[in-house]
Amino acid sequence: MNPRYYTDGLAYDRSTGRWSEQLARELVPWLGVRRDARWLDVGCGTGAVSDAIMDLAWPGQVTGIDSSEGFLEVARRKVPGARFEVGDAQALPYPDACFEAVVSALVVALLPEPAAAVAEMARVTVPGGIAGLIAWDRDRYLQRDYWEASDEVGAGGREVDEIDSAEALGQLLTGAGLRDPQARLLTARVTFEGFDDYWESLLGRKGHVTAHFQGQPAPRQAAIRESLRRRVERKPGAKVPVEASAWAAKARR
Ligand SMILES: C[S@@+](CC[C@H](N)C(=O)[O-])C[C@H]1O[C@@H](n2cnc3c(N)ncnc32)[C@H](O)[C@@H]1O
Repeated sequence: MNPRYYTDGLAYDRSTGRWSEQLARELVPWLGVRRDARWLDVGCGTGAVSDAIMDLAWPGQVTGIDSSEGFLEVARRKVPGARFEVGDAQALPYPDACFEAVVSALVVALLPEPAAAVAEMARVTVPGGIAGLIAWDRDRYLQRDYWEASDEVGAGGREVDEIDSAEALGQLLTGAGLRDPQARLLTARVTFEGFDDYWESLLGRKGHVTAHFQGQPAPRQAAIRESLRRRVERKPGAKVPVEASAWAAKARR
């Protein structure tokens, strides 16, 4: 994980955040957490999950923690009723057993020590409480079209997540001593006005894709763009629907 990819929260919200918001709204009710619970959102970013908790779960208290101050600024404005703090998912600054629900969306697969982060999530969850995770699916992850286009023109650069399936998430949860793991595939779709609109959102994110694209010589940049256009634009000038799927997993302490 390159921390430079997680500084501009508004750019994130115009790109990945549009899918993550939809995933969060499917995840939160599925966890089945009782009203008035204390929730922790680990790697909360710009607040997609915290916002869904506020809207859908009648929480007693919502705390979000993230390593990016830039993302937290956006989260604080978006979810004024929650508390947001800077910290490391792999060393949570909370006592044992102080949250009824602990969730982490699209984070553990990025971390150098996913098992350490999930062990921390388990530690701060009360006995009987629930922990939930989201990770992109191996085959239907966001930005798959870009990396396929890049491969097609010989530009490579794709990074593979090790945590990208129901099994991998289940193993993380049970490895941390949690029980009764369950998983479910979530799908989110964002429709862009046209290819240029999609392209701006993709490159505006300033993440791995942008760094990769900017590192290519101009002819190869043009080839990637055209290959991507052919993949996502069904007819010239048509709207561009972009679908991506992720696994949600949950287990009890
Ligand atoms: C793909 S974003 C997901 C954000 C949010 N959960 C969502 O669903 O939109 C990954 C987040 O993990 C955060 N992150 C990365 N490493 C972290 C760490 N060691 N501790 C806490 N947060 C971390 C990043 O700053 C970023 O906000």
